[in-house]
Amino acid sequence: MLLVTGGLGYIGSHFAVVALQAGYEVLVLDNLSNSHANVKEKVEKITQKSLDFIEGDIRDEELLDDIFKQYSIEAVIHFAGLKAVAESVAKPLLYYDNNVSGSLSLLKAMQNNKVNKIIFSSSATVYGEPKYLPYDEQHPTNPINPYGYTKLHVEHMLRDICTADNAFAAITLRYFNPIGAHPSGLIGENPKDIPNNLMPYLIKVANSELPYLQVFGDDYETRDGTGERDYINVMDLVEGHLSAINYLVNAGFHVFNLGTGKGTTVLELVSAFETANNIVIEKKIKSRREGDLAKFWAKADLAKKELHWEATTSLLDSCRIVQ
Ligand code: NAD
Ligand code: WQD
Repeated sequence: MLLVTGGLGYIGSHFAVVALQAGYEVLVLDNLSNSHANVKEKVEKITQKSLDFIEGDIRDEELLDDIFKQYSIEAVIHFAGLKAVAESVAKPLLYYDNNVSGSLSLLKAMQNNKVNKIIFSSSATVYGEPKYLPYDEQHPTNPINPYGYTKLHVEHMLRDICTADNAFAAITLRYFNPIGAHPSGLIGENPKDIPNNLMPYLIKVANSELPYLQVFGDDYETRDGTGERDYINVMDLVEGHLSAINYLVNAGFHVFNLGTGKGTTVLELVSAFETANNIVIEKKIKSRREGDLAKFWAKADLAKKELHWEATTSLLDSCRIVQ
């Protein structure tokens, strides 16, 4: 059985779908701080399989200990975490507590119960200001906000455990910009507040829940002056995790970028979104958003070579709103 922390969230719920479909038994631990309990039924509806769910917090070591004693967990897929960059700047301790202390509790409970395989959701944000592009896994890490530091701290904990225990296998997956949803339309990215990220914001504009898109800066050194990112389809992304599970037979600490290897500007994404959904998006050019990098995208070759995985969904398909 797989223990999936944060498994009712955006990426975790998509992972739960493909893991159940691949024949794994899945136990989700989620405190519902950024998700809804009804996602469990939605995942079950899509897969026609049952999803075990415990409402609880990864910082609760006693609960974790009980879980590892009660269930036979072969590996942990660790999605649970807070991810809003601006909030992490305003409330750094909340982020260190949730993301770093939470991961520490999880790792202690794993060690106490001799569970020694984990896949961790890290982020391209650990690289910081690009020294060169595309970012490969050797690019220096230099986060530019507390959220990024929490991800890097957890990576370091995993690296150090693997040094101390040569039977431990830890895979850090550095996601680029996940977008899209399961084709059923039942699950997807559904932030409770006004979205920070481009794609959920676009969807709210398309649904007339927000009046227009603010394009944060058109004077960057990119093709059209707007920010450039590597948008990866969420179904492709979670398939990458299935490949990573197979790779856990290799003890040690491993890092893989999960991206497409291609950069897309804000205006290019808006244009693809308009074509995919046959609509026109109202937009206004605004000043740059504080803390934004001009451009970055992944070198995705290592995951292809080692995990035998690559992103295959087109940008147009990723932009199509499913209902
Ligand atoms: P999400 O907020 O939709 O999902 C995270 C889930 O974890 C939520 O269901 C939340 O309730 C749960 N959670 C948070 N803290 C918890 C705690 N202490 N105990 C138990 N459950 C807890 O976010 P997501 O987009 O699905 O991201 C999943 C992971 O991937 C996160 O760790 C995030 O940092 C990382 N990541 C996300 C992106 C992205 O753009 N979405 C990019 C890179 C990395
Ligand atoms: C993409 C581009 C914006 C919103 C953040 C985190 C990162 C990662 C993903 C987890 C940029 C522009 C955006 C809008 C806009 N999360 N934009 N109008 O900034 O690459 O990454 O989320 O790890 O850590 O930093 O993603 O979707 O916010 O922005 O013009 O309303 O869209 O300026 O160029 P970002 P994003």
